[in-house]
Amino acid sequence: MAADKTATLNLNGSDIDLPVLSPTCGPDVLDIRKLYAQGDVFTYDPGFTSTAACESAITFIDGDKGELLHRGYPIDQLAGKSHYLEVCYLLLYGELPTADQLEEFETTVTRHTMLHEQMQYFFRGFRRDAHPMAVMVGVVGAMAAFYHDSTDITDPWQREVASFRLIAKMPTIAAWAYKYSIGQPFVYPRNDLDYASNFLHMCFAVPAEEYKVDPILARAMDRIFTLHADHEQNASTSTVRLASSSGANPFACIAAGIACLWGPAHGGANQAALETLKEIGSVDRIPEYIERAKDKNDPFRLMGFGHRVYKNFDPRATVMKQSADEVLDLLGIEDNPILQVAKELEKQATADQYFIDRKLFPNVDFYSGIILEAMGFPTSMFTPIFALARTVGWISQWKEQISDPALKIGRPRQLYTGAAKRDYVDIENR
Ligand code: CMC
Repeated sequence: MAADKTATLNLNGSDIDLPVLSPTCGPDVLDIRKLYAQGDVFTYDPGFTSTAACESAITFIDGDKGELLHRGYPIDQLAGKSHYLEVCYLLLYGELPTADQLEEFETTVTRHTMLHEQMQYFFRGFRRDAHPMAVMVGVVGAMAAFYHDSTDITDPWQREVASFRLIAKMPTIAAWAYKYSIGQPFVYPRNDLDYASNFLHMCFAVPAEEYKVDPILARAMDRIFTLHADHEQNASTSTVRLASSSGANPFACIAAGIACLWGPAHGGANQAALETLKEIGSVDRIPEYIERAKDKNDPFRLMGFGHRVYKNFDPRATVMKQSADEVLDLLGIEDNPILQVAKELEKQATADQYFIDRKLFPNVDFYSGIILEAMGFPTSMFTPIFALARTVGWISQWKEQISDPALKIGRPRQLYTGAAKRDYVDIENR
């Protein structure tokens, strides 16, 4: 991107001109790539709070307005009018598909859902009580050992096949991780079912009897996938990009993304949020937990609250809250005590000065667990479901990065605060 403005930094009495880049949306970006060469100085921004690590045309977030756009389209429109595989196409290729393009895309994804039969032995090697995220990190990384013909990142065709394989097989991997953990037989994918229905089928069907996917639950599942599909340069996506910058194969990069997503500050928050709501248990205990969240001597945080970028509201949380109401209503679950605690907690926390001052609002993870639990998933499956839905975001960002001719290995510098150079001391003299 060419700069049309410059900013001047005065450093030790000398002026250094820095190009100012203007994005389609969002604040201007100072281009500091030549700063070290020109000024012998680094910049310091450990949590990347003010640093753009890449150029991207996929997703845009306006944290103040609470806006999330995929290729320009607002998330509430996509969640309301589109469906997950169409959003996958949009993220991957930049435009909404025509009917023919969508049909071809869906057929291709559907035809890649089976796992290499030998991969079953990987699952069987894990302890039954392994967290499904641990299984997913291992099995996705192991795909590089099974699909050699899609690991050459210099070949565009192999990159395309790897993308399809990852998007198509992730539901099978997540469902099998679940089945293994409860000691039930693995259920094979079915090509006559749509993406979300197929996932529910692989999770909840058993060979002994017929299982009919509830279309209401399939629609809610699809919406959860859509709301998690991509989220700009978050921690796991940045991990995928950093891993990929060394030329690593796609399966290794996505396994790295899954590992990062697992943390409670990121994708692991959906499990932690529901566990917190259950721990609170009843509306009368909410003030006690709000006080704990505010107490700097208590490590407790309200999981599902706060976001690095959203400082007004998380648009995904708005859709998720509506969806929780709808799903519980349609399932005939009236007066769900956890949903009541969640709504009251949101009301009390967002009226509290601590939360107002710090701009802390419910995020996407606050309500998703309530829906997933109503569908029959245990809390340990919440983050794997996030991982399977985010796979298309990771892949889209990975493809964008790999296709960039200006790609360089990611190699941050540091503010060194260790010992200065000193001489080795023999052990008898220490
Ligand atoms: N409960 C209580 N206080 C909080 C919370 C919370 N959930 N989140 C932030 N704060 C306070 C924090 O203590 C700090 O206060 P002070 O300025 O007095 O020191 C202030 O708000 C700013 O917090 P921060 O940790 O510096 O903000 P951050 O941008 O680095 O972190 C966050 C963002 C999402 C990691 C954080 O808000 C958090 O830990 N939330 C809970 C975990 C969570 O729900 N994560 C899911 C994020 S959305 C899904 C995803 O993208 O994965």
